[in-house]
Amino acid sequence: MPETFQALVVDRQDTPESQTVSVRQLPWEQLPDGEVLIKVAYSSVNYKDGLASIPTGNIVRSYPMIPGIDLSGTVVSSADPRFREGQEVIATSYAIGVSHFGGYSEYARVSADWVVPLPEGLTLREAMIYGTAGLTAALSIEALERHGAAPDKGSVLVTGATGGVGGAAIAMLAAKGYRVVAGTGRPEESGYLTGLGAAEIISREEVGTGEGKPLDKQLWQAAVDSVGGGPLAAVLSKIAYGGAVAASGLTAGTAVPTTVMPFILRGVSLLGIDSVNCPMELRERVWKRMAGDLKPARLDLLVDREITLNDLPAALQDILKSNTRGRVLVRLG
Ligand SMILES: NC(=O)c1ccc[n+]([C@@H]2O[C@H](COP(=O)([O-])OP(=O)(O)OC[C@H]3O[C@@H](n4cnc5c(N)ncnc54)[C@H](OP(=O)(O)O)[C@@H]3O)[C@@H](O)[C@H]2O)c1
Repeated sequence: MPETFQALVVDRQDTPESQTVSVRQLPWEQLPDGEVLIKVAYSSVNYKDGLASIPTGNIVRSYPMIPGIDLSGTVVSSADPRFREGQEVIATSYAIGVSHFGGYSEYARVSADWVVPLPEGLTLREAMIYGTAGLTAALSIEALERHGAAPDKGSVLVTGATGGVGGAAIAMLAAKGYRVVAGTGRPEESGYLTGLGAAEIISREEVGTGEGKPLDKQLWQAAVDSVGGGPLAAVLSKIAYGGAVAASGLTAGTAVPTTVMPFILRGVSLLGIDSVNCPMELRERVWKRMAGDLKPARLDLLVDREITLNDLPAALQDILKSNTRGRVLVRLG
């Protein structure tokens, strides 16, 4: 075992302005407590990781912090009998990369309660092509299907289509046989979106800003929305009778200027999606689906680029400016 390990560290002194983001060599004893020691193979870049890297992000709970809410890797040792040396595993969210050292590190030590065995049918790399964005997309589809969504009931809208959650949702819905409408602010990425499986591409203007009618033309049986804000209000006004929207994000803002009309006149449901504290039973089941019936034939199409620790500071800035497409993979091993 090496005496030190390499990681990306976000640190600050007294003020947010003093924050630094740098690759450092850390002594072994700085790894936090936890039952499972993992040699990290891959991590990924999520919007939340971008926020963790900036002074105003309001994500990191203590400093210094190794960000990275996602990791996949191989168990080096485990004090918990549920895991064994050499086992391939995934760990995402909970306190990871927020108040507990995360995945932008050659090694991670985490609670056994946060660890998911890598399901059969996925590699460690594929697990991080998905990462939290993919898990969130799959949780959204699972919630919509529990509500009654099915491929023969009409189109499903995916907003923020060129983003991580959006791209994964398009690819998984298409793999299940749904007709997918992709809502995007980047029409120049139409080729990419149809490659993922979108049947129709519409602009952000067509999705709407939330300033239109409370009830509009009923266009979609359901929607996967990671954008929030005004666009979520617009989406709710265009969902068909009895349909649902799975809402997971806030890229366009936190305030949703809607009315009760879609809920009380069309029986539309708003389903909240949380990947951070989602119960382990649901998490494991959904990861298995991501390796099975939801797995797209060409998962690699979601990869924007594969980078190393040294490339991370720029990539974290990029995701905050929507300068990434799909998923950025971080290779540690
Ligand atoms: N609830 C959860 O557990 C959970 C889990 C993961 C992520 N999230 C949240 O989900 C959101 C998306 O995450 P992500 O990792 O997919 O981020 P991402 O890769 O940056 O994707 C966000 C996408 O939203 C669209 N967008 C950006 N600014 C917009 C605006 N002002 N109005 C409308 N659309 C806009 C862009 O797509 P187009 O250019 O194609 O429109 C962008 O690519 C974030 O808010 C994140 O915090 C929540």
